[in-house]
Order: sequence, then structure tokens, then C-alpha cells
Amino acid sequence: MTNNIHGIILAAGKGTRMNSSKPKVLQTLSDKSLLGHVLYIAHQVCNKVHVVYGFGGEQVQNTINDDSVNWVEQKQQLGTGHAVAQAMPHIKDDSISLVLYGDVPLIKKSTLDDLINQAQQNEVALLSVVLDNPTGYGRIIRNSEDQIQAIVEQKDCDKEQLKIREVNTGIMAVNSNLLKKYLDGLDTNNAQGELYLTDIIEAAVGDKKTIASVITNNEYEVAGVNDKAQLAELERTFQQNQAAEFMQQGLGLKDPARFDCRGSLSFGQDCEIDVNVVIEGKVTLGNNTNIAPNCIIKNTQIGNNVSILPNSVIEDAVIGDGASIGPFARIRPEANIGENAKIGNFVEVKKSTIGKGSKVSHLSYIGDTTMGENVNIGAGVITCNYDGANKYQTTIEDGAFVGSDTQLIAPITIGKNATIGAGSTITKDVPADQLALSRSKQVIMSNWKRPIKK
Ligand code: UD1
Ligand code: CA
Repeated sequence: MTNNIHGIILAAGKGTRMNSSKPKVLQTLSDKSLLGHVLYIAHQVCNKVHVVYGFGGEQVQNTINDDSVNWVEQKQQLGTGHAVAQAMPHIKDDSISLVLYGDVPLIKKSTLDDLINQAQQNEVALLSVVLDNPTGYGRIIRNSEDQIQAIVEQKDCDKEQLKIREVNTGIMAVNSNLLKKYLDGLDTNNAQGELYLTDIIEAAVGDKKTIASVITNNEYEVAGVNDKAQLAELERTFQQNQAAEFMQQGLGLKDPARFDCRGSLSFGQDCEIDVNVVIEGKVTLGNNTNIAPNCIIKNTQIGNNVSILPNSVIEDAVIGDGASIGPFARIRPEANIGENAKIGNFVEVKKSTIGKGSKVSHLSYIGDTTMGENVNIGAGVITCNYDGANKYQTTIEDGAFVGSDTQLIAPITIGKNATIGAGSTITKDVPADQLALSRSKQVIMSNWKRPIKK
């Protein structure tokens, strides 16, 4: 018995049916490539992982960027047996080889643990699944004692064998020493003229080995991705499984079918997420926080009792306890929204701190700004932070009131409790407690007439 597990991930296929410039295994499901998913699981159960690549090798290696992987080239695709054989020179005899597929992304750790356990006891262990429609798959041939005798590919099956619904998933765990021996004995005497990995089963049976089997009940775990429709189907499965797990942990989801998390989400108690919310990267929610429909939230830390109102987009931000964001707010990177602050509709905040209890309720742009507590920003206020070449800082101190439709030309400081009259363009610092105005006096043109159409 060995605890030395070598993963061999077959990823040499071109994936023609994707109709994409990207190699198939780099197509993304949730936040990771297909191969990324397989590697994530493989690293959890293997001591060493080998990836057999073919098409787009450089692109695959650069994108995956995993130094712990041993990349093995398969120059010509001569069959699954040939693919596995390419990795064998890198594999120790006294180990178990676990064969996985770069385009079968949702295999579970618990299933692989079972399979490895079986291989530790029996030397050869195969993962199979029973399908309503087995067309296209290699059939599992069992004898009257229910013992596996062989795998016969669809194209090599006779009429009776075609009726068998238990099929080979391709995933197997085999004593590496035996695997080397059986791979050496493969030939291409089959309908496709390939070196079939599956033929090692018959060889092992001939060698008086018992073939252990694990049968999975989850078709999705062993489902491969060949085209965009299958990719979308597995994306849905992934999202539904994830949503079910979140709900079990206490997250309220109005409709788990209309929730997507492409990253990691953690949450306290009594949080609720309405429909069509997309979570990306690392997002955390405190207790009792609600997210309304159609929000996109990325890499953001959100506190307790927060309301994110509909159609808000938030990225790389921190939202304090009791804050209210949106509807239609855009919170950009390095925004830090203080406790009980309010960011209303059509407000954009970038690289700014908004103090406790401050309000920016309507139609504003706040960028490169440090705002104190209990500030009130009127509708349509713009911090003019950019002169076409450089960015400048705006400081608005506690209790300031900035009238509607004001432009604050940075660099500038608005003092504590200062007031700015509506419609002002403020270019100089405003001292604490003072009123600043910059608009011109209103005039009435008494002899002006509206033009008349000629
Ligand atoms: C294979 C199995 C079949 C099983 C099915 C499950 C064999 C002979 N047949 O059939 O019993 O039911 O998978 O999906 O193993 N690959 C390489 N290099 C090669 C050939 C294939 O890397 O030279 C990779 C492909 O990229 C693919 C995987 O191996 O990811 C399976 O190859 P494919 O030719 O699709 O095998 P199937 O005909 O589906
Ligand atoms: Ca296949």
C-alpha cells in the first residue's frame, strides 16, 4: 500500500467543437478554466500532478501558471493509452496513478478518495456511471459474478454489448508498476486504430487482478465538455450545487437558479440576496445584509445591516455597517464607505473615503476624496480631480454641506461645517463654518423677446 499518488491529467485534445481560438481546457467555468478545476481537485488528492498537453501547449502552461505541475507533451494524439504512457517515465513504480481529464471539471474529492482507496486495496480501480443513454461511451463488461472483465468502446461493441448502460468514465486509479506493464502491451487492433487506455482492464483481468469499481450517482461529476452548450450546462450545475451549499449554511437566496458566484462568498447570519446577483472574486457579508436584484459585487467586504439596492456595481471596496448603496450606484476600487453612510442613485465613488453618516444621495462623482462624518453632498456635485495630466485630492471635513450642482476643483479642502451655495465652482479652500458661493448674480433682461420663426 502506498500513499504516493500521481495524478495524470489528459489535456491534449484540441476541442474543435468549441469553435474557439482558446484550447478547450482553458474555457472557463465559474472563475476557473476547466483544467484549473481539475488541478484544484488533483492537488488535494495527489502528491504530484502531471498534465499531458498537445495543442496550444504554451498558451495552456502560461495561463495555468502552476509551477508544481509536470507538463508532458504528447506530440501526436494516438489515443488515451498513448497519452497516459507519455507521463509514465516521470512516475515512480511504487505509486498509484490517478487518470483524470482536463475537460471533466466537476469530479469531487470524495469520489477520488474512494477510488484511490480501492486502488490501494486492489491495485486497479475504475470509476463508472450508469447512463440512460450510453451512446458513445466505452461499455463496462461484467461476468456472471458481477466482476469487471473488460471495457469495450462503442465502435467495437457487438449488438448485445451496446445495450449495456454502465459505462467507463475514463477516470481510474492503478498501481503504477502494473500500469506501466499493461501500457507497454497495448496495440492498435481496434476500430479506431488507437492505443486505448481501456484495454489495460482486459490485461489486468488476464493477469488475475480484481478490478475494483466505484460507481458514481452524479452524472455531472464525470461529464466532459466538448462544446459551449455542455459548458453552459455544467456551469449551471456548478452554480446550483454552490447555491444549495450556501443556503444550507443559512444564506437566503430568492431564487437559487438566478444567483451566480464566481469566486468565494462568505456571509454572517440572516443575509438575503435577491435575483440576478453576480458575485466575483472574494466577497464577504456581515450579518443581516441585503442585496437587491441585479447587482454585481467583486472583491468587496460588506459589513452588517447593509442595504445594497438594485442595479449597483461594486468593486474592490469596503462598505461599513448600516450603509445604504444605490439603486444604480457605482462603487469603484479603493472606495471605503463609512458606517451608516448613504450613496444614492447615479453616484460614482472612486478611491475615496466617505465618513460615518455622510450622504451623497444623487447624481454625483466623488473621486480621490477624503470625506469626513455627517457631510451632506447635494445632487449633481462633481469632484474635479483631473486636469488632463494629473489627479488631485479633495478633502471635505466633518459636517460640511455642499450645495447641488457644485464643482470642487481639486486640490481643495472644504473646512468643517462649511457651506457651499448651489451651482458653485469652487477653486479655493473654504474655511470652517463659512459660506462660499461662486455663482454670478441673477439678472432680468426686461426688453428681451423670444425669437420668432421666420
Ligand atoms: C474515452 C474512453 C471511453 C470512455 C470515454 C469517457 C478510451 C479508449 N475510451 O473515450 O471508454 O467512455 O472516454 O468520456 O479511453 N486524449 C489525449 N490524447 C489522446 C487521446 C485523447 O489527451 O491521444 C484526451 C482527450 O483530450 C480527452 C480524453 O483524453 O480529454 C478522452 O479522449 P477521447 O478521444 O475523447 O476518448 P473517448 O472516445 O471519449
Ligand atoms: Ca470524449
